[in-house]
Amino acid sequence: MKAKTKIISFHNQKGGCGKSTLTVLTANSLSQDCDKKVLVIDIDMQYSIYNTRQDNIKRFGKEYQFSYDIEQSNIENFWNIIKEKHMHYDVILLDLPGLLTISPTEKDKISKILYLCDIIIIPVKPGIYDIKSSITYFKTLGKYKELKQKKGGDIELHCLINMRKNNRLNKIIRPTLEKNNLSVMQSEISDFFDYEEKKLHEVSILKSSNTNPKTKNEFRTFIEELENMINQ
Ligand SMILES: Nc1ncnc2c1ncn2[C@@H]1O[C@H](COP(=O)(O)OP(=O)(O)OP(=O)(O)O)[C@@H](O)[C@H]1O
Ligand SMILES: [Mg+2]
Repeated sequence: MKAKTKIISFHNQKGGCGKSTLTVLTANSLSQDCDKKVLVIDIDMQYSIYNTRQDNIKRFGKEYQFSYDIEQSNIENFWNIIKEKHMHYDVILLDLPGLLTISPTEKDKISKILYLCDIIIIPVKPGIYDIKSSITYFKTLGKYKELKQKKGGDIELHCLINMRKNNRLNKIIRPTLEKNNLSVMQSEISDFFDYEEKKLHEVSILKSSNTNPKTKNEFRTFIEELENMINQ
């Protein structure tokens, strides 16, 4: 039995900020570079992670040893999967839908799942509205954190600047988030085309031969920062 399974979610109320991409990149790297046993639970109705794995099983064949496992789940069945599987993994990554696209009842159910997480990373895309809505969302999750702390638990809650571009916003995004008392991870993820390509494969960015060194260095810094949180 594992010492303590860490449940992690990249989550934001907004869509398209990189939740699924970061989930897959992290699952590959934690399993291949950090020797962690990893399960991804795909709870997003689009099931893009689960469906991509199904395509890859067809491409590589059933005998191929994938470095991490994937379960497809709806919101209700999630609790059964967690109960049955959590003890077999070091890390469970949850890919959830954004909250703005779902009904209030579903929103409530997603909130209960988020409350269970040990680590929540809010990916923030550089954009004025993305920054503003991430500040609001961080404060909402901050209330979950406080509640959990009162009950003797905790949630590590941080923003991660994703798809950073070399423009004016790049300079103001971190100070704006920090000025609003948000915790922001030191590492940042640039807007790089090759992140998109690697997502389709089952290879860690750090192991892939055609990823440029700058991308690798940036991702290595991120995974080290995350691994420190996991090992705490
Ligand atoms: N750092 C990055 N560099 C380049 N492209 C990125 C990066 N992160 C995400 N993307 C791209 O941005 C798009 C949205 O990413 P993704 O689907 O992961 O977001 P999401 O938050 O899961 O969206 P949804 O809310 O629809 O589930 C995708 O085309 C993805 O490949
Ligand atoms: Mg997604």
